[in-house]
Order: sequence, then structure tokens, then C-alpha cells
Amino acid sequence: MKDVKILAIESSCDETAAAVVENGRKVLSNVISSQIALHTLYGGVVPEIASRKHIEKINQVIREALDQAGVTLDEIDAVGVTYGPGLVGALLVGVAEAKAIAYARGLPLVGVHHIEGHVSANYIEHPELEPPFLCEIISGGHTHLVIVKDYGEFEILGRTRDDAAGEAFDKVARAIGLGYPGGPKIDKLSKEGNPYAIPFPRAHIEESPYDFSFSGLKSAVLNYLNKCRMTGKPIVEADVAASFQQAVVDVLVDTALRGAEDFHMKKLAIAGGVASNQTLRLAMETACRERGIRFYHPSPILCTDNAAMIGAAAYYEYIKGTRHGWDLNAVPNLKLGER
Ligand code: KG4
Ligand code: ZN
Repeated sequence: MKDVKILAIESSCDETAAAVVENGRKVLSNVISSQIALHTLYGGVVPEIASRKHIEKINQVIREALDQAGVTLDEIDAVGVTYGPGLVGALLVGVAEAKAIAYARGLPLVGVHHIEGHVSANYIEHPELEPPFLCEIISGGHTHLVIVKDYGEFEILGRTRDDAAGEAFDKVARAIGLGYPGGPKIDKLSKEGNPYAIPFPRAHIEESPYDFSFSGLKSAVLNYLNKCRMTGKPIVEADVAASFQQAVVDVLVDTALRGAEDFHMKKLAIAGGVASNQTLRLAMETACRERGIRFYHPSPILCTDNAAMIGAAAYYEYIKGTRHGWDLNAVPNLKLGER
């Protein structure tokens, strides 16, 4: 079969990103324009600002992605774009752009589910990885444990009942004064702290063993901080960060390994922004090795939002025959497995 080059676009949250990916696994370029510095001023992503910035940046980001890949639109076979879930105004910028390019050049349009993109980030650096495998998707907006039955086919085993893992990192970071985004800051500060200094709770939901819950843990950290402030007990930020992080890591590792064991999965992958957490990666690696499970994770730059992962997912959708029409719309609460 002829090589397939996909121009991929991602704008679901606060990164404006474009990439050129060949045959789903070879990244020819991966350009990311992050708005993080801008949103840091407000302590989190401001949707209206995100949309406006996407509009300002998207043409330039796409041009750079084509230039760095050394290709022109003449060599592109299809346009892939995230159409949900995410912020509606942010998604719309990418979707409108992808439609305009595809229409003007007579190219097929492939809409991609953002979470399918995160999962597919694992294909890029692991040429041998093929479904079926178990994947834990842990980002700022999502926490899912899924069986990847085939490319683009998922069986959801569990999901968060309340906060996403990354959201908990961001909220706790804000409470200890670290700023946005909290994940990388807690990751770093934790190295100086004792992960067993404060016994924060590890929530397990009896009746649905693959579901997650992080709001109780978040409240426990906030209560601990309030109590210290009221009684004048000194707060050791590094210990709070490390103990919180350890509680999240324990839950993420236990839940994923329970799923792997129960469903006899010999391959486990992680995906999403939180998957770049160093303590988590190490703990997963060790737990998997002890049980003879192969562990996969993307490089940090492919864990957080990027368009290369959307290009990987779009390729597998493209070869399956998925095509979207010019009526493709942004779907802010798109469910996994929906088309
Ligand atoms: O996947 P992502 O870029 O966006 C969503 O789709 O949500 O994930 C962003 C989330 C943020 O909550 C951020 O704090 C978290 O991933 N994150 C981390 C780390 N790097 C990013 N969490 C823990 N440790 C990290 N090193
Ligand atoms: Zn994401």
C-alpha cells in the first residue's frame, strides 16, 4: 500500500497543535504552541481566551508542521482533527480549519476522538504495540481504564466518578500555592518530600472495582492544609505534594493491575498528561515487571496534548474507512466509541 501522510490538528484545550504523521507511526513533524503561560495568570484555562489564541495561532502552526515535515499540501492524503471532547469554542477552531483545508484541497476529512488520540500516542514510539491491550488514560479531563480491543475499538472498564486525576493534581497544586498546571510542579516538588509523611486516603469503589474517585483525596489534602493553618502547625509543602502524589499513584497502579489480572492482559499502556508523571511511570514499570506484563508509555511530549497522537489515531480510522462530511461539528462531550 502507498504511504499515507496525514495532516493532524488538535485544539481541544490550551495547546494549538499540528503534525504530519506517516502511516500512523512515523512523526514527520509535531508542532505545539502552548498557551500555558497565558492561562497561568488566571490559575487555569479560560475558555474564551483559549479560543481566541487558537484562531491567532492555528495557521502559523499548520504552516510550520508542513515545513518541518518537508511536505506541501499536495503530498497530504487526509486531514485528521480532534472534534471532541473538549472546550467547544477551542474545538471549533480546529474543526473549521480542518474542514476548510480538506474542502479546498479535495482531501478526506477524519474526525478523531481526543481520548483515542491519547491512546494512539503509544503506537508512535512502540512499533511492536498492537491491540489488544489495556490502557489507563489519565489526563486533566479524563480518567478511564479501557481495553483497546482493536484500533479505535474500546471496552470501557472504569472511569472517574468525580475529578480526573490531572484535575486533582491541578487543584492540590493550587491549594499549596504552586500554580497552574499543577501536575509537573507536584511531580518536581515531590522529589524533595516524604511520600509517606501524611496518610491521605486511597479510594476504592467496592461495587465497581475499575472506577476511580479523586475528590475525597483532594478534600483530605485541603482539610489537612486548613487544619495546619488554623493550629499553626508548619506545612511542609514537599511532604504534602509527595504524600498526595503517592496516594494517586497507588490508586492508578492498583486499579490498572487489577484490570490486567482480571482480563488476562499481558500488555498495559498509560496515556494522557498524568502519564508523564515520573513516580507513576516507575511504580507501573516495577509492578508490571513483577507480573510479567509489558508496560508502555509515550514520551512526556506525546503524553500531554499534541497533534502527532491525533495523526496516529486518524491513520487507523482512515484505513478503516472513517470519513466525516462538511457538516462535522465540535462535540464537547463526545463519548468514547461514538461516531
Ligand atoms: O492530556 P492533557 O495534556 O490534557 C487533557 O486532555 O486534559 O493533560 C493535562 C493534565 C493536567 O492536569 C496536568 O497537570 C497533568 O496532565 N500533568 C501531570 C504531569 N504533567 C502534566 N500530572 C502529573 N505529573 C506530571 N508530570
Ligand atoms: Zn488531552
